[in-house]
Amino acid sequence: MRLTTTKKELFDAIPRGFSVGFVPTMGALHSGHASLMKQARQENELLVASIFVNPLQFEALGDCDDYRHYPRDLDADIPLLEECGVDIVFAPSVAEMYPNDLPLVWVRTGAMGEKLEGASRPGHFDGVATVVSKLFNLVRPDRAYFGQKDAQQVAVIRRLVADLDIPVEIRAVPIIRGADGLAESSRNQRLSPTERTQALVLPRVLEKLKARAITIDAARAELATAPGVKLDHLEAVDPATLEPLAELTTPALVVAAIYVGPVRLIDNIEITT
Ligand code: PAF
Repeated sequence: MRLTTTKKELFDAIPRGFSVGFVPTMGALHSGHASLMKQARQENELLVASIFVNPLQFEALGDCDDYRHYPRDLDADIPLLEECGVDIVFAPSVAEMYPNDLPLVWVRTGAMGEKLEGASRPGHFDGVATVVSKLFNLVRPDRAYFGQKDAQQVAVIRRLVADLDIPVEIRAVPIIRGADGLAESSRNQRLSPTERTQALVLPRVLEKLKARAITIDAARAELATAPGVKLDHLEAVDPATLEPLAELTTPALVVAAIYVGPVRLIDNIEITT
């Protein structure tokens, strides 16, 4: 495995003429990332992963606790990258990615990036779309892999490559859950054991919705009254456009975000029948 930290090193490291799979990450790798990398490994001749905690997609462009406290430990991430058969890792500094300080030209995601997660995190999806566009230009992958856990991110990136004619196939990889049902996330590291138990109400409620055992309103009420939990949102939306659905018609994507202690957790479930 080759570790690169500059754009030039990355460019020189990628031989052309092979199919390239790309997994962009912010590090703090867990089994969810491993599933993206394993699928990418199977479907491509060359596997590139990036590790970059992108300040543009955090509150106040990174001038916030969430960005400062985001777990960063490249040495701890290396064994998983190797185990997953990654050929090239790109782990640039902020100055390498944004040498002119903050970019003047951004990718704007409009209404699609302003709803749901975007309503609580203004500018987040513009920051994601901007860095992902830069990474696509640097890596020039044939296929790029994103976790379905971030369903809105997947929908926004599909729209980004369609609207800007970026020649890459976007592959969404199913959510990986712990044995208790909680969706894998780097943020789970910040939950105490009690908070983790409290957070389990989220996957439970989503499963009940999928089984049509409760209504959307009942699901919201259950999350709003669960101990230790603050409901941010729970919505049924069209999976491609993220437009809200008046009723739970199919196909639907139910997306939800809750706070447990200081940690904001997201999860979603696709309902097809
Ligand atoms: O999902 C993430 O980890 C990030 O949003 C991404 C896609 C690596 C862009 O910074």
